Parts: sequence; C-alpha cells; structure tokens
Amino acid sequence: MSGELTASAQPVLDLSRLPRHVAVIMDGNGRWARARGMPRTAGHRAGADRLEELVRTAAEIGLPILTVFAFSTENWRRSPGEVQALFRLAEELLRDKLDEFHREGVRLAILGDRTRLPVSLQREIQRAEAVTAANQRLRLNIALNYGGRADILQAVRRLAEEVKQGELDPADINEEVFASRLYTAGLPDPDLLIRTGGELRLSNFLLWPLAYTEIWVTDRHWPDFGRQEFLAALADYQQRQRRFGRVESNS
Ligand code: IPE
Ligand code: IPE
Ligand code: MG
Repeated sequence: MSGELTASAQPVLDLSRLPRHVAVIMDGNGRWARARGMPRTAGHRAGADRLEELVRTAAEIGLPILTVFAFSTENWRRSPGEVQALFRLAEELLRDKLDEFHREGVRLAILGDRTRLPVSLQREIQRAEAVTAANQRLRLNIALNYGGRADILQAVRRLAEEVKQGELDPADINEEVFASRLYTAGLPDPDLLIRTGGELRLSNFLLWPLAYTEIWVTDRHWPDFGRQEFLAALADYQQRQRRFGRVESNS
C-alpha cells in the first residue's frame, strides 16, 4: 500500500515515512467498564477486540513492528480473578485469532517471563510463535508478564553468567551487547510510544528501549481507541523533530 491516508484530523499520514516500531500501553479498560456500570473484565474483553483491530490496521498500512503491553510484572497485584481473566483473554486471542493473524502475515512473539503464566497459555504461546515464525509482514510483540526492570535484571544475570564462564570480557559489554540480552533483542528501539487512558508515566514498560522514543498520550480509554486515532498518532509522529541530542540542522 502506498500514498496518503487522511486521519480524522489533519495532518495527513505519509505511508512512505511510517515509524519502524510502535509501542503501545493499552490502558484504561477498567475505567471504560466502570463508566458503563460493567465489571473490569468486560473492559478487558472490549480491549482485546481493539487490539485485534489495531493489528489489522498495522498490517494493512505496512507498519513493520508493533509491541503492545498486555500484562506487567506489577499487574500481579490485582485480584486473582482479574489476573485469571486477563490470562484467559490472552489465551483466547492466541487460540481464536491465530489463523487470521497468520493469514495476514503476522509474526507473533511474547516478551516477558512466560514461566509464571498458566501452562495452557504457555502452550498457546509456543504454538502461535512456531506457526507464525516465518511471517514477515508485521512483527507483533505482546508483552505479557513483562517489566522493564525485570528485563534489565535478567539481561544482567545472563551477562554475569557469561563472564563467569569465561565467554565474555566485561570490557566488551557495550550498549549493543547489553541490548542483545534483553527480551527485545534484535528489535530496533520503538520510534513512537502510544499510551491510552491519559496517565503520564511509563509503568515499567520497555525502560531500556524507550530511551529516545517519541511519546504520544491520549485520554481516550483503550476500548475506545480505534483506527482513526491510531492513524492520527502516526501522523502526529511524522511532525516531530527527533534530535537525539544534536541541535536543529537550521539553527
Ligand atoms: C489496562 O487497563 C489493562 C491492563 C493493565 C492489563 P486497566 O485495567 O489498567 O484499566 P484502568 O487503568 O484501571 O482503567
Ligand atoms: C500498564 O497499565 C500496564 C498495561 C497496560 C499492561 P497499568 O494500569 O498497570 O499502569 P499503572 O498501574 O496505572 O501505572
Ligand atoms: Mg491502568
């Protein structure tokens, strides 16, 4: 697909200059549900539908990489019922939407410590990753039991082990070597972070990879976040000037 797509509000989205990697904190499901007198889990269910739509849109416009935050290492602090419901939804999504994702050329990967997830969910993850391993259209990373600090710690532990085994010289540890031990190994850093639900914080998402990411926050809750707003966020990103510490070229 090429050309231009008009988002609901100006500016216009240039499909030839899309970000390579977009990260999304899908927040606000609970508040969305409460505003409607519904249980929090109904918000999560509605949120899963939005994720499906987002994946379709991303594949359609040619976005290469999408990373979404589905469950944080801190979300274990919620009630067992809500935690269970979230895992069940993740399992359903992987089971019921796998064929469709596969047809659309989506390569699925889970970021985070999967060993603490229910065994049935681990099985669906394994299957989804194996079935879609060769797909190249859209890389979809779902962060599940993921924490930015936990990721940094597991990378440090791996490096320490390699040093202990005599496989790595501490003097050779640079940013590239470090990043290659993170769950996000091999991925370019996100260009754009979208957060729904209005909170102005990272909530322990992708701490290392987000170092220079452009941030776009909307008050809209995740179950209300549709295609038009996603395109508007991408169009807004295209207006940003990324300097990476340098000064503007014309100043
Ligand atoms: C995001 O919505 C989903 C997860 C964190 C799993 P929330 O459940 O955090 O919704 P709010 O923030 O309470 O509205
Ligand atoms: C961030 O949302 C985690 C996910 C979207 C999965 P939270 O709702 O958990 O974040 P806090 O607790 O408001 O920072
Ligand atoms: Mg929240």
